Amino acid sequence: MAGHTSWEKVPLFDPGPEIEPTKRPKSVEQPVWSENKADLIARYLRYFVFITRHGTYIDAFAGPQTIRSDRAWTAQLVLESEPKWLRHFHLFELAPSKVTRLNDLATQHADRNVHVYPGNSNRVLPQTLPADSIRAREATFCLLDQRTFECEWALCEHIARLRPGPTKPEQFYFLANFWMSRALAAISTEETERKIAAWLGDDDWQLLRSQRPAERRALFVDKFRDLLGYRFVEAWPIFQRPRGQGATMYWMIHASDHPEAPHLMARAYRRAIEPPEPLDQLDFELGDLTIDTCTAAED
Ligand SMILES: C[S@@+](CC[C@H](N)C(=O)[O-])C[C@H]1O[C@@H](n2cnc3c(N)ncnc32)[C@H](O)[C@@H]1O
Repeated sequence: MAGHTSWEKVPLFDPGPEIEPTKRPKSVEQPVWSENKADLIARYLRYFVFITRHGTYIDAFAGPQTIRSDRAWTAQLVLESEPKWLRHFHLFELAPSKVTRLNDLATQHADRNVHVYPGNSNRVLPQTLPADSIRAREATFCLLDQRTFECEWALCEHIARLRPGPTKPEQFYFLANFWMSRALAAISTEETERKIAAWLGDDDWQLLRSQRPAERRALFVDKFRDLLGYRFVEAWPIFQRPRGQGATMYWMIHASDHPEAPHLMARAYRRAIEPPEPLDQLDFELGDLTIDTCTAAED
């Protein structure tokens, strides 16, 4: 692929103890930090949808992180992205004040097919979008931008079954890193034990307490690959501060069945904060790529 840096060159380094700053991978020019994670997702979708010319975006934790911030959040950036090739939007949110923000957003984009669903997405999403409810050829992306333990593993399993056929919807799963040890240490009641078991998908959460951050990251990468059967699973560090400074706040685990997807994510990660490339540049650089949204190509 002309103009692409191979994604294999992006090191998946050991972030070390959580309290220490994470070293910046040398080959990544513009590592993404917390404030820019929305730009990363929006940029990746722009690339992918440039190739497929259609798509469905599902956001299971869709409200803005901070209700009072004027900063654009992911659902907003994705809806505002031009050209408007993503056609269908399913936005889920628990907090009523944020549901209001999402309804306002939907009203501003009345020309698109935007659905806002209030309530707990772990329950509401499987009811509104049952297994196989999305047509087989529809390019489908699901953002799971949880704070820590909100996204139950059963939801990831369900999303993998949303479409019939061999290529599953892509998942962008946020795994908290920086405060994970503290969050694990705080589990002390039956209710919080039930919550973390649902998040993990089994009762082995005690194991996480003794694990290093890199081991937890690897555990989740393996879950997406081995339990859900995704062919390409990569963990991308989301830093605390610009230019790879500070701790790794999250890992964004990207699970896809498309061989091109890791290349497109590497490009999005490098360029997340740059102005969007003009369409003729994208045409020149990505125009030869094809993504069969129905058949998982052999690599
Ligand atoms: C980390 S924020 C999402 C940030 C957003 N993606 C952005 O770009 O700013 C997580 C959101 O999920 C919501 N939430 C938490 N638990 C939820 C649940 N069980 N179902 C639906 N939404 C939930 C929170 O109210 C919050 O708005």
